[in-house]
Amino acid sequence: MMDISARNMRIGHLIDSPDIAPILAKWFIDEWGPWYGPNGQGNAESDLAECSSKNKLPICLIAVDENGQMLGTAALKTKSVGSELGVGPWLAAVLVSQEHKGKGVGTALVKAIEEEAARLNFPSIYTSTDTAEGILVRRGWHAFGTTQSLRGPVLIYRWQVKDTTVSTAQ
Ligand SMILES: CC(C)(COP(=O)(O)OP(=O)(O)OC[C@H]1O[C@@H](n2cnc3c(N)ncnc32)[C@H](O)[C@@H]1OP(=O)(O)O)[C@@H](O)C(=O)NCCC(=O)NCCS
Repeated sequence: MMDISARNMRIGHLIDSPDIAPILAKWFIDEWGPWYGPNGQGNAESDLAECSSKNKLPICLIAVDENGQMLGTAALKTKSVGSELGVGPWLAAVLVSQEHKGKGVGTALVKAIEEEAARLNFPSIYTSTDTAEGILVRRGWHAFGTTQSLRGPVLIYRWQVKDTTVSTAQ
């Protein structure tokens, strides 16, 4: 399988590419209909509009190819599924386009969010998932607990910034 990561991919902040927000909103609605769809509590447009700073949460990153085509996205937020446990911030809204899945884009986005957490001096970050466990475990995230999502039970993982910046740097 081709790994498109370093050579053809650029990861940046959504606020530097505002034209992409409407495309992302549609991705969110298509992927997470029970939350962002017409009957859900979430609002994709306003969630993305809140990502208005590089130094204050929420922060949204996008991965694009050499032609500016969207490959994927990930965010660092104060709240997500699991924040009722009183911890955070949260790696959330990780999404890769269907045609680019399995090529390392998701892994690169998780790494980029870890780097953002380190840049912003967070001691640790969390995420809840039932789909990205492989990426997280390979990158040194540890299961922390469980919570309930709209899809059912999900595991919560924690990544400690200081522990893993040394061991996973590559
Ligand atoms: C989960 C998700 C973000 C992963 O994105 P991705 O770009 O496919 O992730 P990667 O390519 O980095 O890794 C995915 C798998 O492909 C494999 N892979 C990555 N690069 C590879 C390569 N060059 N060759 C072979 N396999 C590769 C990885 O080993 C991994 O497998 P595993 O996790 O099952 O063990 C994506 O599937 C997605 O958008 N899912 C829907 C939304 C969602 O569930 N988001 C997460 C919860 S918020």
